[in-house]
Amino acid sequence: MKIKYADFVISNSDYKKCPNNDLLEYAFIGRSNVGKSSLINSIVNKKNLAKTSSTPGKTQLINHYIINNSFYIVDLPGIGYAKTSKKARLQFKEMIESYLIKRSSLECLFMLIDCRHTPQTIDQKFMQWLAENEVPFVITFTKSDKLTKIQLKQNISLYKKEMLKEWIELPKIFITSSKTKTGIDEIKEFIQEIKSSSR
Ligand code: GTP
Ligand code: MG
Repeated sequence: MKIKYADFVISNSDYKKCPNNDLLEYAFIGRSNVGKSSLINSIVNKKNLAKTSSTPGKTQLINHYIINNSFYIVDLPGIGYAKTSKKARLQFKEMIESYLIKRSSLECLFMLIDCRHTPQTIDQKFMQWLAENEVPFVITFTKSDKLTKIQLKQNISLYKKEMLKEWIELPKIFITSSKTKTGIDEIKEFIQEIKSSSR
């Protein structure tokens, strides 16, 4: 898929105020600093469309970007961001969960995981919640440039092995780097594939 046009549409704290038309959307989630906004910029091939930061907690709202006038990419805040008040954390949780459950045009959620990490409880709990609530999702490992090829292979197979202790079947997995553009074409092809098969 060639991305000819990508632009910011709107930021919301309430899913009810998200764009109201029949375009499908693809959202990106994961812990703060995992590289959600950077991955979106790599996909649309624009440096600063989604705001990125080396400090966690940069993205705080539901951000819609329109692509080729035919679908949306959605940047979401980090899950379980610790450096904020308990009240703010609960508000974030409620905002994200209601968006994920109630946004019927959400076709697929990309669950981002830093490829250097072993399975973390917060990610595992979140993916369990996605499965229980029937939110369609795929796993996307980020920052693959930070490991050697061998380390990367070892980490991913360890991750899968750990997950299979709890899961009967694993979701589809992508391995990406926003720095080297690894896996970006695969994500674009996947979006095109599921988009054209659903409508
Ligand atoms: P929040 O919005 O705060 O939840 O973070 P985020 O998940 O959107 O992360 P963001 O894209 O802002 O990136 C966080 C930091 O990681 C930035 O300093 C990025 O430059 C860096 N980063 C993101 N992706 C990659 C990658 O693929 N490789 C490397 N080396 N660094 C990356
Ligand atoms: Mg962000």
